[in-house]
Order: sequence, then C-alpha cells, then structure tokens
Amino acid sequence: MATFTLPKNSTVQPGQVYKAEPGAKNVRSFKIYRFDPDSGENPRMDTYEVDLDKCGPMVLDALIKIKNEVDTTLTFRRSCREGICGSCSMNIDGLNTLACLKPIEDVQGEVRINPLPHMPVVKDLVPDLSQIYAQLRSIEPWLKADTSAPPDEERRQSKEERAKLDGLWECILCFCCSTACPSYWWNGDRYLGPAVLLQAYRWIADSRDEYTGERLDQLQDPFRLYRCHTIMNCARTCPKGLNPAQAIGEIKMLLAEREG
Ligand code: SF4
Ligand code: SF4
Ligand code: FES
Repeated sequence: MATFTLPKNSTVQPGQVYKAEPGAKNVRSFKIYRFDPDSGENPRMDTYEVDLDKCGPMVLDALIKIKNEVDTTLTFRRSCREGICGSCSMNIDGLNTLACLKPIEDVQGEVRINPLPHMPVVKDLVPDLSQIYAQLRSIEPWLKADTSAPPDEERRQSKEERAKLDGLWECILCFCCSTACPSYWWNGDRYLGPAVLLQAYRWIADSRDEYTGERLDQLQDPFRLYRCHTIMNCARTCPKGLNPAQAIGEIKMLLAEREG
C-alpha cells in the first residue's frame, strides 16, 4: 500500500472541530487537511462530524455535504462523480485514490483526508499540478504522423494492434500513481513519473503513430525514464487498476532491443 507522506508545505496543527447536529446517531469523523497559502497561517487538520444517515455512501459525498452544509471554505476538485474525470484524487486513509469511488464504509474509524502527497498545495485538498502537466506536454500525448489519413476514412488498426492499447487508454490522469512514487517524490523535477510514462508508452504502442523512434529517443535519459526502480507503488494505488510500472518496463525493453 502506498504510504502517506505530508504535502510539501506542511507543519500541520490541530484545527477546529465541527460537531454533528444533536440527535445524529450514525456519526463519523472526517479529519481534513486545511491550508490556505495566502493566509500566512500554518496548515491544520479540521475535524467534521458527519451524520452518515443523511449522507451518500462515498467519501466525495461527505466532502460535498460538508462544503454545502457546514463549511463553504473547504476546497477540493471534483466533476464527474463516477471515476472518469480524475479530478477528485486525494489521499484517503493513507492511500491515494478517487474520493468519488471510495466508499466511506471501507475506512475504519476516523476518515483522514489529505491532498496528494509531495505536491505543493494550492488550497486544502487541491494540489498544484503545473509541473506534472508540463511533463505531460513534453511527451506530446497525441497522434503524430506525416502520412495523411486515407480520404474520408479513419486510420485503421487490426484487432491485435488495438488490443495493445488496453490497459493504457483507460488512464484518467488522476496522478494517484505519480504522487505515490518515491522516485517521483525525490526527483520529480527530472523524472517523468509513472502517469506521464504510461502516457508516453500509450503513444509508442499505437500502430498509427509514426514517431516511435523519436519518442524513444526522448526517453533515453538517466532521469526521465530510468529513475523507476520498480517499487510498484504506482500499480498498487491506481484506482483504475492500471499498471504503469509494466508500461515503463515495456519502454525499457524497446530501448534495450533497439540498442541490440
Ligand atoms: S514502479 Fe517505478 S514508477 Fe512505479 S512507483 Fe515504483 S519507481 Fe515509481
Ligand atoms: S495510471 Fe492510474 S493512477 Fe496513474 S494517472 Fe492513470 S489512472 Fe491515475
Ligand atoms: S469526480 Fe471525477 S473522478 Fe472523482
């Protein structure tokens, strides 16, 4: 299981406790990281008691209830509520996952919620993803081909060629994996990390792409690719059940084959 590590800007203090309404019988405490860099105050952990009899089943339901009914200043990202957009990734009970797919009943006792580890925090549960998106742009995650597509037709693939993209196309760029990867924690400025490398392999493996050689050239680098030490936190934490470490292994194998 990916271990929890505090976000980059942290000396966390105990915070406020928001009690459940009187008469609530099925109460659960949510201990949530709060930090507003503009306030000049240290981060703190606020505790919100939620009546689960009046709340949906997922951790995201509790966060939305708290924001709507108790504390409108609580900040987090979310959009689809069904594990598709990747926005609600955070660290729940020590594991990076999607709040909308995490049942509250899967957590024993107090539910501890922190932002994705080792990232600068914009506010509360919202990490700054600027660097990781710049890294994603650097691998040019789109189809690159000089040959024109057949007139009025798609670029075709055989069933076997298409099957090579399974386990890759499903990635929703939630970055649970990269922020659980110790190599990315220590060398995130130069190592691309599991999410971006899985995307890189998604285009290397695509039979329609004509820039495989150039893509591999770009990854032939002691830091961009070879900081992966197969620790496997990435595969253990991915909420979509993907295996970025395997994709990284495939890239390494292609590079080794190329070198002969
Ligand atoms: S297998 Fe590689 S990418 Fe995955 S967590 Fe370990 S070092 Fe990071
Ligand atoms: S591989 Fe999994 S954990 Fe990593 S970004 Fe994609 S969906 Fe998220
Ligand atoms: S809200 Fe879209 S993945 Fe959770």
